[in-house]
Amino acid sequence: MLPEQHDILFSFLAIVFAVFGIFVFGNVVQNCRERKLSGSKLWLGIFGVFAIVSFVMTVHMFSLNQGDQLSFFFGIYLWVIILLLLAWGVFFKSNNIEGQSPPIVRGFFFWTTVSVLLAGYTNWLPQQRSDPPPKEAAVIGDVTMEEFAEMGRVIIFGAKQVAGQKSIGKGQCPLCHTFDPGDNMGRCPNLFGVEKRSHDRIKEDRYANLPMKIGETEPAAGIVKGMPSEIPEEYRRQNGPDELIGEDYIRESLMCPTCYVVKGFGKAGDTKSPMPVIVKPPISLSRVEVNAVIAYLQSKDTPGESASVTVPLPQDDAGNTGGAVVEESSDDEDRPVFVTGTEDIQAMINTLGCPLCHTIPGVEGAMGELGPVLHEKINAPKRIKDPNYKGKATNTREYVRESILKPGAYVVFNEEAGESFPDGLMPTTFGQMLSVEALEKLVDFISQTEAPAGS
Ligand code: HEC
Ligand code: HEC
Repeated sequence: MLPEQHDILFSFLAIVFAVFGIFVFGNVVQNCRERKLSGSKLWLGIFGVFAIVSFVMTVHMFSLNQGDQLSFFFGIYLWVIILLLLAWGVFFKSNNIEGQSPPIVRGFFFWTTVSVLLAGYTNWLPQQRSDPPPKEAAVIGDVTMEEFAEMGRVIIFGAKQVAGQKSIGKGQCPLCHTFDPGDNMGRCPNLFGVEKRSHDRIKEDRYANLPMKIGETEPAAGIVKGMPSEIPEEYRRQNGPDELIGEDYIRESLMCPTCYVVKGFGKAGDTKSPMPVIVKPPISLSRVEVNAVIAYLQSKDTPGESASVTVPLPQDDAGNTGGAVVEESSDDEDRPVFVTGTEDIQAMINTLGCPLCHTIPGVEGAMGELGPVLHEKINAPKRIKDPNYKGKATNTREYVRESILKPGAYVVFNEEAGESFPDGLMPTTFGQMLSVEALEKLVDFISQTEAPAGS
């Protein structure tokens, strides 16, 4: 995830509002004094409270991250200020001194309205917080390494970030991984420092033995995870540990996660990785895209410096056939993930990324293992009956809807592992990615999932 930031514009507006609250209070005090108005105690009380509230709210704004700042600002703060302006208007009106409001106040009112409208316009809409990928990098041409790594960043995080939402691109990596020092979600390695790590990993014993022995058949689907023969020739370990470089490790992590399972992050005693092979559905990156992702991973910890990148640029890549050319990114891909409900259910579920974590009967390739197998026809009623269930659902559909919108409402216990599934791993942002219609369709489908006959 990109570092959470404060929204500079909104923090600034909050400070201005706090000053404004105090200014209004001062103005009322002055008017009451000069004119000896009746009921001045009441007025002073009202505006005193406003001044304190706006001050406290401004302090509160600084304890929030960007997304919460926005919703707090528009959901609460703005209304308080509108109320304050209203009360101030009433104050002038009821005391017949509206002609007295100083010009600076009228100017201020105008200015606040304009900046709020402006801020609303730029922040309310899905906002672009990072530069789009350089357009010329979208087609094979003379791409610099910086541009290539930037392409990788866009594949991972998407070109556009919506304030307060996890930014997730085509590669879907941030669904599972974190990227900043100290930011650990628990189930998947933090990718900070992976460039450095890659050089140590290749010296480990498990790289000394050739050929690889890993490759198990997934009983449910018959898919062999990470079988060496499934790795395209050019990605196989060639010459034993002596000739491996860091890039080989990173590439293998992406192409064949099960070939090297990071200790403590795998299944079945770390012999199987829950990470999807990224050149296969649902992620399906092309060869050039894989290289761009590696270029990003190799250079991200040293901003502005790409000396540690070893992948070839697209134009220097001998194995790059026309088919692997990066397509011009369409407008569609630039937009944040959103499903309208007109898509077929399989496409919807793939777009949202559910298969990365869940095995879902009836959805091809949905073999994820980080979350519970979705057999909700049977599971949901069981969960609701659980004495530990604290959610609000009373039937299967409600339970499924709650699980999608508020995964934390009930954390499923993993009987196989003898512990709860990780709370907080399932994203809480699906509500923003679904239209009402799409949510209904998804709930309908997931509510009907059950173990396939004969298993
Ligand atoms: C469904 C969750 C999931 C997704 C999506 C995912 N990964 Fe992973 N990844 C894991 C897990 C779990 C591991 C640790 C087990 C292993 O070694 O395979 C891992 C391991 C890795 C490693 C090795 C880390 C290390 O410390 O050595 C790299 C590199 C990596 N992933 C990169 C990526 C990239 C890049 C993407 C996106 C294109 C991605 N992953 C998408 C779950 C995921
Ligand atoms: C990054 C991994 C991840 C992704 C992506 C994800 N989930 Fe989950 N999901 C989990 C985990 C972990 C749990 C169990 C912990 C919990 O209950 O919160 C869970 C729980 C659930 C449950 C409750 C299951 C039960 O048997 O009680 C449902 C339903 C569910 N997810 C549906 C979805 C749907 C639909 C999507 C896609 C829109 C999705 N999930 C995407 C990780 C994920």
